Amino acid sequence: MRRKLAAGNWKMNGTTAALSELEALARAYPTSSIDVLICPPATLLHRAAEVVRDTEVTVGGQNCHAATAGAHTGDISADMLVDAGASAVILGHSERREDHGEQNEDVRAKARAAMDAGLKAIICVGESLEQREAANTLDIIGGQMSGSIPDQSTGENLIVAYEPIWAIGTGKVPTLNEIGEVHDFIRNRLERRFGEGVGRSVRLLYGGSVKPSNADEIFGVSNVDGALVGGASLKTRDFSGIVDALLKA
Ligand code: PGA
Repeated sequence: MRRKLAAGNWKMNGTTAALSELEALARAYPTSSIDVLICPPATLLHRAAEVVRDTEVTVGGQNCHAATAGAHTGDISADMLVDAGASAVILGHSERREDHGEQNEDVRAKARAAMDAGLKAIICVGESLEQREAANTLDIIGGQMSGSIPDQSTGENLIVAYEPIWAIGTGKVPTLNEIGEVHDFIRNRLERRFGEGVGRSVRLLYGGSVKPSNADEIFGVSNVDGALVGGASLKTRDFSGIVDALLKA
């Protein structure tokens, strides 16, 4: 059985004051049958890890460099994330692909580094509106998967997040059928590449405008093992609604 995962991506939001949200979240779920992960900005990661220490909530990074160390001004290695207390890292988010020109092979190299360091890599894939309208969604996702997911992936170190670019931060969400079609496709691709055992054990998250009000129905879709949540993860009141929906799913 795949353990469900509610993951929050704070993006470039949050200073010290935001740690109180994390504290409230950790207090709300002293024990849990699902995984709850928050990925704060790198500046907060170490303190965030202190806040959730000895609780069920874990913290992660939003990016890492492919190299272990060296002359890469402004970058952060996977080992540094681990040292700061991270258990996972989001990689290949569409905002990184767009803002920083990250290509599939960059994401794959980063994912290798993350896995080598003992982190879970949450690899994001997703189509633009133009690609969906041209009926290219599955081709795009398939290409991103084969380009970005490293060979060393297992059910333990890989999580795939399907995030349609047009649904991120827009309040627009694909239909449940559309979500199901892509998640089934991703599962199928993973089984074909890594074999049934591994393919079936990788967790698949849906991301893009997940809110307490739509979480229930999204978590009812087959092969949706949780969510990657942006805006609604910033306030514990909202994120708890999503965690509660996943606990019931
Ligand atoms: P959103 O972002 O929940 O604000 O749409 C999701 C994401 O980018 O991971």
